[in-house]
Amino acid sequence: MYDLLILGGGPAGYLAAERAAQSGLKAAVFEKSNIGGVCLNEGCIPSKALLYSAKIYHNAAHGEKYGVKVENAFLDHKYVISRKKKVVEMLTSGIRAKLKKLGASLISAEGIIKGRSLEGFVIAAGGKEYVGKFLLIATGSVSVIPPIEGLKESLNTGFALTNREILELKQVPGELAIIGGGVIGLEMANYYCAAGSKVTVIEMLDHIGGNVDRDISKSLQLSLEKIGVKFLLSSKVTKISGRQVTFEKNGKEQAIKADKVLLSIGRKPFTEGIGLENIGVYTERGRIITDEMCRTNVAGAYAAGDVNGVSMLAHTAYREAEVAVNNILGKKDYVDYDAIPAVIYTNPEVASVGLTEEAARARGISVKAAKLSMNYSGRYAAENEGGDGFIKLVADAEGGALLGCHMVGNYSSEFIVAASMMVQMRMRIADIKKIVFPHPTVSEIIREAIFELQ
Ligand code: NAI
Repeated sequence: MYDLLILGGGPAGYLAAERAAQSGLKAAVFEKSNIGGVCLNEGCIPSKALLYSAKIYHNAAHGEKYGVKVENAFLDHKYVISRKKKVVEMLTSGIRAKLKKLGASLISAEGIIKGRSLEGFVIAAGGKEYVGKFLLIATGSVSVIPPIEGLKESLNTGFALTNREILELKQVPGELAIIGGGVIGLEMANYYCAAGSKVTVIEMLDHIGGNVDRDISKSLQLSLEKIGVKFLLSSKVTKISGRQVTFEKNGKEQAIKADKVLLSIGRKPFTEGIGLENIGVYTERGRIITDEMCRTNVAGAYAAGDVNGVSMLAHTAYREAEVAVNNILGKKDYVDYDAIPAVIYTNPEVASVGLTEEAARARGISVKAAKLSMNYSGRYAAENEGGDGFIKLVADAEGGALLGCHMVGNYSSEFIVAASMMVQMRMRIADIKKIVFPHPTVSEIIREAIFELQ
C-alpha cells in the first residue's frame, strides 16, 4: 500500500517521487523505459551536449575575430555522440541513486491503471498489482506523426527520423531536411549545420520559433542563415518519397533532395492505453484536463508534465509535480502559468518569459515597451564581436508591473530566471530599478532596459 503511485518517470514523475519521499510519503514511480523520460534520454539534455560541441567548434573555427587562430578545426560527430551518452548515463544513474536514498520505489515496468479499490488507485505492472491512496499521471508526450504521404514508410526505413533517432545518428547526413522550424528543428539545424550537413528547414508558418517575439524570430533566422542553414518559410510538407521531400509554397508544389529528414512538427500528450478510462479521467483531444492545482476530474488523481498539454516544457513539469505533491500533502499550491520561461538553445540563445508586446496589446493591456541592443552590456560587447543580440521588455503602463522579457543573445538562458521572478512576483518597475546586478555581466541588460521603459 502506497501513499502515491506515479505513472511515468520523466521530469514530472521522478521529481514528484523525490518531493513526496522527502515529505515522508511512501511513493512508487513506474517507468517502462529509462528513468528521466524524453527530457533526459532523448531531448533537453542530450541535445544540449551536442549544441555545446557545436558552440566550441564554432568558436574554434571562427576565433580569428578574438585573436585566436585554429587551423583545421573539425567536429568529431562520433565522439560528440559518445560523450552525450556518457552525460545521459551519469544523470540517469544520479536520479536512480537519489530515489533509492530517499526511499522512493522505482518500478521498472509499464504500469496500467486498473481501477479503484476501497483503499485507493490500483496499478498493474510486471504481473503485480500496486495500490496507492493518490495517483499522479505523468506519462509525457510522443512525437506527432501527421498524415504526410510516405512519412510512415520513411520512418520505417530510417530515411525520416524523430528527435530520438536524430540524437543517435552515427554519420552526419550530407543533406538534412528538417520539417518544422520550432524548437527541436532549430536546435538540430544548429548542431547538424556545425557538424557539416547542408541543412534546410521547411516551415509552414511565415516565421520560425512559433510564438517567440517576431523581431527575435527574424534575428535568429539571420544568425542561423549566416552559418549556412537554409529556410523555406510558408512551405507545408505534403509528401516524402525516395530521397525527396515535397512541399507546397504559394499553391505550387516543389521538392528538395535530402539524405535524411528530421520530423519536428510538435509533440502530443501520451494518454492511450494507460487505463484512464478505468477510473474515468477526462481528456480532451488526447490531453488530460487539469486545473492550476494539477487536479484531474477524478478526486485524488493528478496529472503533471506534457500529458496535460498546458505548457510542454520540462521545467513546467517540475513545478507541476511539486504543486501536485503539495496539494496531496494538504498544502494548497498553484502553478503560475504566466511566468514560465522558454529557451531555444541555439547559438545565439533565445530566452523569454511572460507576454510579448503583441500579446499584451491583444489582451487590451495598455503597455510600454523598450528594446535595447545587448551591446549596452560591457560583458556582451567584450565576448560577442559583431553580435546583434537584443532585449525587449514589456510593462503594464498603468500598474507599472513588468509583464514580459524577451531576449536573443548568449547567456540569456542563464539569467532569464531573474526576469521570471520579476514577472511572477508582479514586480513594479520602480522596485526593479533598485536591484543591483553584478557588473560586468550580460544580465545587466535587463537593468539597462528597465531604465529605457518610458
Ligand atoms: P514545435 O511545436 O516547437 O514546432 C513545430 C513546427 O512545425 C511549427 O512551427 C509548425 O508550424 C511546423 N509544422 C507543422 N506541420 C508542418 C508541415 N507539414 N510542414 C512544415 N512545417 C510544419 O515542435 P517541436 O520543435 O517538434 O518540439 C516539440 C516539443 O518539444 C515542444 O513542445 C517544445 O516545447 C519541446 N522542446 C523544448 C525545447 C526547449 O525548451 N528548448 C527543446 C526541444 C523541444
